[in-house]
Amino acid sequence: MSIAENRDGLRGRIIERIIRSRFVLAAAAFVTALVLSFGASWWLSFGILMLVLVAVVGLSAALPRTDALSEQPADPVIFRLSGQQLAAQLPDPLIIFDREGTILYANPAASGAFRAIARGGTLLMHFRAPEIQALVHAVMEDGTARSTDYFERVPLERWYRATVLLLDRVGAGEPQFLLSFRDQTEAHRLERMRSDFIANASHELRTPLASLTGFIETLRGPARNDEKARENFLEIMHKQAERMARLIDDLLSLSRIEMKAHIAVKDQVDLSAVLNHVADTMRPLAEDLGVTIERDVAAGPINVLGDRDELTQVFQNLVENACKYGQSGKRVVVELKRSGDVTKAVIQDFGPGIADEHIPRLTERFYRVNAETSKAQKGTGLGLAIVKHILTRHRARLVIRSRLGEGASFTVLFGASDA
Ligand SMILES: Nc1ncnc2c1ncn2[C@@H]1O[C@H](COP(=O)(O)OP(=O)(O)OP(=O)(O)O)[C@@H](O)[C@H]1O
Ligand SMILES: [Mg+2]
Repeated sequence: MSIAENRDGLRGRIIERIIRSRFVLAAAAFVTALVLSFGASWWLSFGILMLVLVAVVGLSAALPRTDALSEQPADPVIFRLSGQQLAAQLPDPLIIFDREGTILYANPAASGAFRAIARGGTLLMHFRAPEIQALVHAVMEDGTARSTDYFERVPLERWYRATVLLLDRVGAGEPQFLLSFRDQTEAHRLERMRSDFIANASHELRTPLASLTGFIETLRGPARNDEKARENFLEIMHKQAERMARLIDDLLSLSRIEMKAHIAVKDQVDLSAVLNHVADTMRPLAEDLGVTIERDVAAGPINVLGDRDELTQVFQNLVENACKYGQSGKRVVVELKRSGDVTKAVIQDFGPGIADEHIPRLTERFYRVNAETSKAQKGTGLGLAIVKHILTRHRARLVIRSRLGEGASFTVLFGASDA
């Protein structure tokens, strides 16, 4: 800080103190005038005035600043809310009841979550579940707060953590109790998805493993010296081992994509090159299955923001499915069009199609319309789950349409406003 700035700051502070002490100074000026009027000398009066001025400036520096108080944060609004106003705004259901179990208050979240809960009702008539009854009785007995898990089946399945506690007695009044609910449905759903996933993954791995173990035992025992059977079994074992490897690859792929879900894609990828490449690489498989891949891909680059490897994986999966499951239709059409900001890639087959009830579930992990057909086609049921995750990261949309007997179309839309 320069000397000139220092001087300006000091001057400012002195002026501020003089302004804050203006009433004391006015009184001093008045006294000085009075002394003067009694014939005291000018010099004496001026000296008194200066003394008062110096004292005031020095003293006011030691006093707390009144404007510092006004700089403190405003009172939190909670100081001005009544308990009822606060309870009314809470998202968790909250009910207050007395020793007889009569409801004295239910906040709007409670009335919304539990039908017909209202003041004057009987709490235990509404909550007949044994766990709530036991909870309420136990807290009424000894006043110690307790919690329990509570499951509501109707009108919607919901999981709650219910807590009952004794509220402070007001004066000599009757004790009152508070019952609150914390909604755990979402956490419960995620937990169930996780355990379903582990159960499915283990099941999928256990099946080929059980078959491998069985063949190893047969080869060590009854088929020990049977050359022909050994060749046959080794071939099957090889296929099962391959299946396990594919499953593990798909699981790792899914977990890698999930970890990257929040990282935005930023490279320009030419979709026409990707689709042509996929159609080329899928040709041997299509030929094996007696399917022809037809292309209707717009010429020239059609760029979208994306990750080339991930988009290749998406279309490989879709074209492979179309060839495998739509094999009976004998042809698969790969189409790419851009119109305005929207880029549309369609993989169409003319096979048996997919019944309506399966369509919304196709992107679930391990979901298969027909597990046997899928396994025969070396499917793991993870392909479309991977496709969905990749497209979500790309802010693209997958639309599945099908008519039984006429085939199925899988359309990927980039840049559509509701993607
Ligand atoms: N074009 C299609 N026509 C008919 N059914 C289909 C088609 N595409 C997918 N399906 C059905 O959807 C299921 C799920 O497909 P998904 O790609 O997720 O798994 P998969 O092909 O069985 O295994 P993976 O792709 O991991 O090898 C398939 O098992 C099949 O039943
Ligand atoms: Mg597949």
